[in-house]
Amino acid sequence: MARLILVMTSATLVDRPSETPDRERQGERLLRSSAKLSFNPTVDVEWDAEQRPDVFYAPPAFSSLYGTGLWEEMSEAQRVQLTKHEVASIASVGIWFEEILMQMLLRYAYDRDLTRKDIQWTLTEIADECRHSIMFATMIKTLDAPNYGVGRLSHELGRFFKTISNNVLTFAGTMYVEEILDSFQRDAMDDESLQPIVRQVSRIHVIEEARHIGFAREESLRALAKTGRLRRTYNRLMMGLLIRRSTNALIHPDVYAQVGLDPKQAAKVARKNPHWKATKARAAKSVLAFFDECGLIGPENRWLLRNAGVLA
Ligand SMILES: [Fe+2]
Ligand SMILES: [Fe+2]
Repeated sequence: MARLILVMTSATLVDRPSETPDRERQGERLLRSSAKLSFNPTVDVEWDAEQRPDVFYAPPAFSSLYGTGLWEEMSEAQRVQLTKHEVASIASVGIWFEEILMQMLLRYAYDRDLTRKDIQWTLTEIADECRHSIMFATMIKTLDAPNYGVGRLSHELGRFFKTISNNVLTFAGTMYVEEILDSFQRDAMDDESLQPIVRQVSRIHVIEEARHIGFAREESLRALAKTGRLRRTYNRLMMGLLIRRSTNALIHPDVYAQVGLDPKQAAKVARKNPHWKATKARAAKSVLAFFDECGLIGPENRWLLRNAGVLA
């Protein structure tokens, strides 16, 4: 049993020597790119930019209530405010996962040689995430929204996940959450009709995350190449649980109360809203196609992905 737990959860203590030159080359490239283009959100975001009351914080079509009868009944001001609170809620989920990720990356680096460029890159990524989490927290505060978070149960499950995650779960899990955020932010950063603060935060995150996503993709593939049948089943199940938890946590029900709606009723409407389901499925489309290709989707987790509304 102890052996089984070790096989399921342990990080690979020593990488295959044949893989190290490839990894070092990749690490070097990523370090160069980050030295060339990185941001300091404390000064690179115009935090005192005016927040006009008639300007949306996210494209209205991305709201969890867009297209429903409830949306039709809302005033324009309520709709704008709802997008503000939804952006804050999603940012707080970003902080939750970035804090999990930073700890998983540090565990990964702890077992490896820091003179390797790819491991130096791992620490650079932690530094990026550190700035991102502070940037998201500053945005939540500047938007004058509560720090919604993911709820007590997900918070505790996150504690468990970061402690037991293996390399597949660390990197594939990272890819999922990063790609979902990325998809929302890509649309926001170029949309000049939106609030400037959200656009600037989105742009910084999209640029810096492109490196993270590339690295997570390569490391997921390397970790998956060493996976046997038993571990594959375990990984699929854990990935399904992570996808369901993180996707369902995106919009905290309290956002509805902030704009004068009944949170229980509005959350129910959102859960059933085909527009919202399609928005989430579109955000997850490319990362799920990658998971499918590399065997991370199967009967063990398909029902969880359907439940999360990201798979038809
Ligand atoms: Fe980030
Ligand atoms: Fe990242």
